[in-house]
Amino acid sequence: MTRKTVTITDNATGKSMELEVHEGTLGPPALDISNLYRDFGYLTYDPGFQSTASCSSGITFIDGDEGVLLYHGYPIEQLAAKSSFLEVAFLLLYSRLPRQQELEAFAAKISKHTMIKESLRGFYKGFYHDAHPMASMVGVVGSLSAFYHDSTDIHDPAHRELAALRMIAKMPTIAAGCYKYSLGEPFIYPRNDLSYCGNLLHMMFSLPSAEYQVDPVAEKALDMIFILHADHEQNASTATVRLAGSSGANPFACISSGITALWGPAHGGANEAVLLMLDEIGEVKNIPRYIDKAKDKNDPFRLMGFGHRVYKNYDPRAAIIRDMCYQVLEKFGDADDPMFELAMRLEEIALQDEYFIERKLYPNVDFYSGIIYKALGIPVNMFTVMFAIARTVGWVAQWMEMIAEPNQRIGRPRQVYIGEKRRDYVPLEER
Ligand code: SDX
Repeated sequence: MTRKTVTITDNATGKSMELEVHEGTLGPPALDISNLYRDFGYLTYDPGFQSTASCSSGITFIDGDEGVLLYHGYPIEQLAAKSSFLEVAFLLLYSRLPRQQELEAFAAKISKHTMIKESLRGFYKGFYHDAHPMASMVGVVGSLSAFYHDSTDIHDPAHRELAALRMIAKMPTIAAGCYKYSLGEPFIYPRNDLSYCGNLLHMMFSLPSAEYQVDPVAEKALDMIFILHADHEQNASTATVRLAGSSGANPFACISSGITALWGPAHGGANEAVLLMLDEIGEVKNIPRYIDKAKDKNDPFRLMGFGHRVYKNYDPRAAIIRDMCYQVLEKFGDADDPMFELAMRLEEIALQDEYFIERKLYPNVDFYSGIIYKALGIPVNMFTVMFAIARTVGWVAQWMEMIAEPNQRIGRPRQVYIGEKRRDYVPLEER
C-alpha cells in the first residue's frame, strides 16, 4: 500500500516537510507531527485539542457528525437494548463479547472484589457530612493504592488486570459509602447474590432496620445508563487518566485523577448542573429568558447538558436516555414530572433557535440522565458519582490499552511562551 503523505511548506524559507498520514479503520486521517519540531522547527498549537489525536485506540469510536458511538464496533443502541453493564465491561476490557460461562466467571470475579478494607471506612470520617460526594470519591479512591500492593506493578499484566477488576468492583461500594456517610447512616456491605447495579442500589438505600427490595425496573434503568456512560474515547477525564498513567503512576491514583477531571461542570459535572439549571428556570414561561442568557456572550450562563466537542448531531446516548425517562417516570416518578416536561420544552425551543442550530448544539448524555437519577431517588450531588462508577470501566480499559503499548512514553505537551524575555534580577532596594 503506498505511503500517504501531506507536504507542508514554510512560505518564509521555502523549506518543505512531508508528514506521514495515519489512517485508522474509521474516522478522519491524522498527520504524524511527532518529528515536526526536530525536523522543521515548529510546534503545533491546539489548545483544547480540537484537532489533535493524542493516541491510537481500538476501544471506542465516535462519529460526531452522524451521532454514532461504537464500543469495539458494536453500536451503543444495540448494546443498550441487548447487553448488560458487566458484559459491556468485559467487552471494553477484552475487546470481544464474552461467552456465557466467561460472563458468569467475570461477574463472579467482580463480586469477589466488592468489599473494601475495613480501615478504609475510617477515611470517610475525615470529611464533614456535607462534603460533596465527589470530594470523598477522589480521596478514598486515591487511597486504594495504600492497600492493594499486589496490583500496583503496572508492568505485570496480572497486576494490571487485578487492579482493573478491583476498581470496577469497588467503585459502587465506595460511592455508596460516600452517600451513606453524607446521611450519617451506617455503611451497608455489598451482597454477592445481587447484580452490579442491584448491589449499588442495595448499598445506597438499605438500612439495617428495614428490608430493602431492589426494584428490577430501577436496576435495569441504572444498568442501561451505566452502559451508555462506560466509555467515550479521549474525553477530558480519560485523557487525564492516560496522561497520569503515562508517567507510570499506579492505576488507583490514575482513576482518582479521572474522577477529579470528570467533576467539572463542563464534563461529567454537567448532569448535576442540568438539574440545578432546570430548578433555576423553574417553569416553561422562563425558558426564553434563559435561552437569551445562554446566547449572551457577556453572560457566563450556558445551557447545561447542551453542546459537545465531538457530537455536532444529537448525542445517541441522550436519545436513548430520553426514551427511558418515560418508563422510569411511569414507574417511579410522575409521568408528567414538571422537570421532564421542562427539559423537553427547553430542548424543543433551543433546537428551533438559530444560535443553537448554527453551532450544532444538541442535548448531550447529561441532559436527561439526571431526570432518571432523581426519579430513582438518587440525590443531585450523587449524579456525577454515578457517572464516575460507569466511566471507571472505560478509564481502566483505556489505561490498560496505553500501558500495554510497546513504545508507551510519558505524555509531555509543549507550549507557546508569551511571558517576559530574559531579564536580570533587581535587588529589593532598587525596586
Ligand atoms: C460530557 O468529551 C466527551 O466525550 C464528554 C462526554 C463523555 O461521555 O465523556 O460526552 C460527557 O462531558 C458531555 C458534555 C457535558 N457538558 C455540558 O453539557 C456543559 C455545557 N456545554 C458546554 O460547556 C460545551 O458545549 C462543551 C464544554 C460541552 C463543549 O465545549 P467546546 O467544544 O469547547 O465548545 P465551545 O465552547 O467552543 O462552543 C462553541 C460555540 C461557542 O459560541 P461561539 O464562541 O462560537 O459564539 O457554542 C457555544 C459557545 O459559546 N456553546 C454554548 C454551549 N455550548 C457551546 N452556548 C450556550 N450553551 C452551551 N451549552
